[in-house]
Amino acid sequence: MQDLKSMRMKQIATLLLFLFSTQLHQAQPGNVRIEKSVDSLLRLMTLEEKIGQMNQYNGPWAATGPLTNDGNLLDQVKTGKVGSMLNVTGVQRTSELQALALQSRLKIPLLFGQDVIHGYRTIFPIPLAEAASWDLAAMEAGARVAATEASAAGIHWTFAPMVDIARDPRWGRVMEGAGEDPYLGSLIAKARVKGFQGKGFGDTSAVMACAKHFAAYGAAVGGRDYNSVDMSLRQLHEVYLPPFKAAAEAGVATFMNAFNDLNGIPATGNAYLQRSLLKGDWKFRGFVVSDWGSIGEMIPHGYSANNKEAALQAVNAGSDMDMESRSYLPHLAALVKEGKVKMTVIDDAVRRILRKKFEMGLFADPYKFSSEQREKTQWNNQAHRKVAFEMAKKSMVLLKNEKNLLPLSKSTGRIALIGPFVKAKSDHNGFWSYDWPDDTTRIVSIWEGVQQKLNTGAALLYAKGCSITGDDRSGFAEAVETAQKAELVILTVGEARDMSGEAKSRSTIQLPGVQEELVKAIVATGKPVVVLISAGRPLVFNWTADNAPAILYTWWLGTEAGNAIADVLFGDYNPSGKLPMSFPRTEGQIPVYYNHYNTGRPATNDSDRFYRSAYTDLSIYPKYPFGYGLSYARFHYSDVRLSAKTLRPGQPIQAAVTLTNTSATGGTETVQLYIRDLTASVVRPVKELKGFQQVFLHAGESKEIRFSISPEDLRFYNDRLQYIWEPGKFRIFIGTSSMDVKEAEFELMR
Ligand code: BGC
Repeated sequence: MQDLKSMRMKQIATLLLFLFSTQLHQAQPGNVRIEKSVDSLLRLMTLEEKIGQMNQYNGPWAATGPLTNDGNLLDQVKTGKVGSMLNVTGVQRTSELQALALQSRLKIPLLFGQDVIHGYRTIFPIPLAEAASWDLAAMEAGARVAATEASAAGIHWTFAPMVDIARDPRWGRVMEGAGEDPYLGSLIAKARVKGFQGKGFGDTSAVMACAKHFAAYGAAVGGRDYNSVDMSLRQLHEVYLPPFKAAAEAGVATFMNAFNDLNGIPATGNAYLQRSLLKGDWKFRGFVVSDWGSIGEMIPHGYSANNKEAALQAVNAGSDMDMESRSYLPHLAALVKEGKVKMTVIDDAVRRILRKKFEMGLFADPYKFSSEQREKTQWNNQAHRKVAFEMAKKSMVLLKNEKNLLPLSKSTGRIALIGPFVKAKSDHNGFWSYDWPDDTTRIVSIWEGVQQKLNTGAALLYAKGCSITGDDRSGFAEAVETAQKAELVILTVGEARDMSGEAKSRSTIQLPGVQEELVKAIVATGKPVVVLISAGRPLVFNWTADNAPAILYTWWLGTEAGNAIADVLFGDYNPSGKLPMSFPRTEGQIPVYYNHYNTGRPATNDSDRFYRSAYTDLSIYPKYPFGYGLSYARFHYSDVRLSAKTLRPGQPIQAAVTLTNTSATGGTETVQLYIRDLTASVVRPVKELKGFQQVFLHAGESKEIRFSISPEDLRFYNDRLQYIWEPGKFRIFIGTSSMDVKEAEFELMR
């Protein structure tokens, strides 16, 4: 017996030497070598050790969900019962825990995951704001910086991008996504995955990305977080799945499932989503982590009787790693022994997890992401701030600019800066950003940004007016007095950083507190007023929209907020953002989105809405449509020219417009292409985004913008979920927003 044991120990030692040897790793082609290593390691593992790899705990420091810690966490790490940890960050902490994991029998390193959603130390605009830039290269660059900073803190894995399509701005998590459109959302998903994963696993500045929340979490009924989702499979495939598929195609390392149930089955226990689609049809080779506690939450859902059944349902459905439910560790071994979970299911999950650890190079060097030197130089360095600054400028959307009030002159004598965001700092960071004591002071406030921009001699006045929330109007008088002393007013209003985000759904999405009253009081002074709106979602602000002469939607812009806002206000950057989500007129209009189906009685304008599919007391249009955003330049679109009136397979047609900058200022325009399938075997959206191009035109310059259209672009899911195109007539729209377009028609022939 003793001999057998010592033989086995020798085998393990030899194998570990093999696994940890960098030279050997470099000698063989990637995949083959890794698959062999995974297989060898799997053969050595006990069932308990395998289950340990499928277990993820929150670290002993910060938490992003309800903790369930019930045992000696560090001891469990040491004994191989933990495969990954979240919310453990910084070289010191990650190294300490990694050292403990390396004391386990097989010395399998831990994976450290963290929600690096829009920057790590250098905070970028929230993802919804970045999406408003429509600038894929800029978003990729932003994710790259975040990955560089996070990986330098010992983090291997970010729980981003969130690629949930969202059509309901009451849902707080709209701030984390790319808005309402599946086409734009898919391109952004790819860009972000590429940015996070950089040169590929093994590179020390690459972090594994995670497409979440699989699937349809963004369609929670009523916009209430965690709520149920019930939708046709056709809608799921057409609207909600494309960004996930795009992320998988871009090589995303992991998926996270979701809290919601989908058509009665919790996403976490949903075999159709995780096994048939993701791992089957899409051939995804990474692993699936549960959302925080979502395995255990199948009990209150009423889908699992107890934690053991939850473990059984989740693992068989394809959830490979248990984040903080503590369902797998206590129950999987018994379930295997009882024959309810096949060993092949466990092996498949563990293989997927180990594969990533090998690909990341953690077996060759478990501390390769932990260098104090790198940590110091990567955090908040100037080059990173520059990328965040560029991104912030591109993210703002100019909603209104009467009589060209903007841009402002740098030699304006007296400017009043009024409102609760003027001197705010951390509110610019928004939800899903961390408070590092040193970094908060580095956030540039609007006050600081504007101050630096002004010529000497200009005077800057300040009054807060009111707080973001609450009904205290005692500051109004001072604010009005300050406005009266100035030539013009910059008025800042919006949401505090924790008003949008996870579990931050709101039934009213008006400007909180008495802020809109403050806007009224300031506009009543008769001074020219520029309103800046900082928010994590589309808000409703009708009075402001109708009465303030200029409105710039700044979202939450991160570290460089003040500098970027000042650049736009004073014309050093000409705004170019376009809305990635429709802005409703009232909450009662939600959901309002541009790519809806037509009814049999569609209202076509506001005077014909009474016996039509419209409210009798509301315009049929959103307040601001998808794709909308102004520039200091003005662009003129010619009619659409088609290279042919018929389209045949193999013979794409070209659709072109001439875009002219008719103003005296250079500017960037995002030219948008939409298509409508006029008659099909299932009803089709009134418009679908199919392409866009961003172009900078100097004052007076013209350019032909051409799009190529082939049958591939015209595919859709029919009622049998086949992804096909059908011959017939199509309308094409090219323009500056989903509502302001030029049209033409063509016919698709077999
Ligand atoms: C969120 C996830 C997040 C996880 C870990 C959950 O509550 O839904 O998006 O990645 O917590 O922080």
